[in-house]
Amino acid sequence: MATIEKPFDAYGDTQALDKVMLDAVATRLESRGRHPVFRRMLHEYLDTMQIDGVQSVLDLGCGTGFAARQIAARPGFTGRVIAIDISPHLVERAKELAAEEGVGERTEFQAGDARSLELPDDSFDAVVAHSLVSHLADPLVVLKEMVRVVRPGGFLGIFDGDYASCTFSHPDAHQGKSYDELIISSIVTQPRVMRQMPLLLTTAGLEFVTAYYYVVCDIGKADYWAPSVESMRRLLPAAKAMIVEEANAWADDRMRESAEGVFFASSNYYSYVVRRP
Ligand SMILES: C[S@@+](CC[C@H](N)C(=O)[O-])C[C@H]1O[C@@H](n2cnc3c(N)ncnc32)[C@H](O)[C@@H]1O
Repeated sequence: MATIEKPFDAYGDTQALDKVMLDAVATRLESRGRHPVFRRMLHEYLDTMQIDGVQSVLDLGCGTGFAARQIAARPGFTGRVIAIDISPHLVERAKELAAEEGVGERTEFQAGDARSLELPDDSFDAVVAHSLVSHLADPLVVLKEMVRVVRPGGFLGIFDGDYASCTFSHPDAHQGKSYDELIISSIVTQPRVMRQMPLLLTTAGLEFVTAYYYVVCDIGKADYWAPSVESMRRLLPAAKAMIVEEANAWADDRMRESAEGVFFASSNYYSYVVRRP
């Protein structure tokens, strides 16, 4: 295995990516967002947040706007979603997609940093961080910003993968473990953050409402994980984790396993619904 440098989190450090890579990230985020399993996990916690009854929602780390558009398109939702991402390129893509899907009027996308929001205190009824916290060097800083901008009594929804549990099949268990570790460090900064969340949420002064937990697993054929495997061809070299040839060989092997019905990939995901007292 040819590790060429210390890998970095390509989904978090989006500012370090060129336009070609940002387009690849956008494609991956959108294909994940189209999967019914990913949508179900979002709407399950939105239901608990009683999102349809609120007027103002903030979506942090919105990427191409998957969660913001899904909220705006809910039949019962009558409010507005402001969505913020650190990547101006992804924000522009999010605006285009929202307009194409007919939710441009109910969404507003802005470039900004979730660690220091240029937004007043108590200004949102609800705040969502969907797949953001695992990409942050200091998640508590963003949790405190979320607490600051939500009104007292408002709900917060925090969803992410427990990427420490993310694993792909490999005929050699030792090599498979090494690849898993390389992949995890190329896609997230905090693979264990959802295990630390009870402590982080308490430290941020939030009141626990409920949590949901999922195992998203493909056995035999790649389905949910297929676009993820394909994305590794570009992402792993961009994250300085592997040379292009090795990333392609890894992805070819996984897709061959899928064609032969012997593929396996899995990760746990969690959502926490909490409330500002
Ligand atoms: C895995 S993507 C999730 C995108 C989207 N929420 C979704 O689920 O499809 C993580 C996003 O967080 C953004 N991000 C990372 N650090 C950020 C920060 N400090 N402030 C705002 N956005 C940030 C990245 O640019 C990236 O678009």
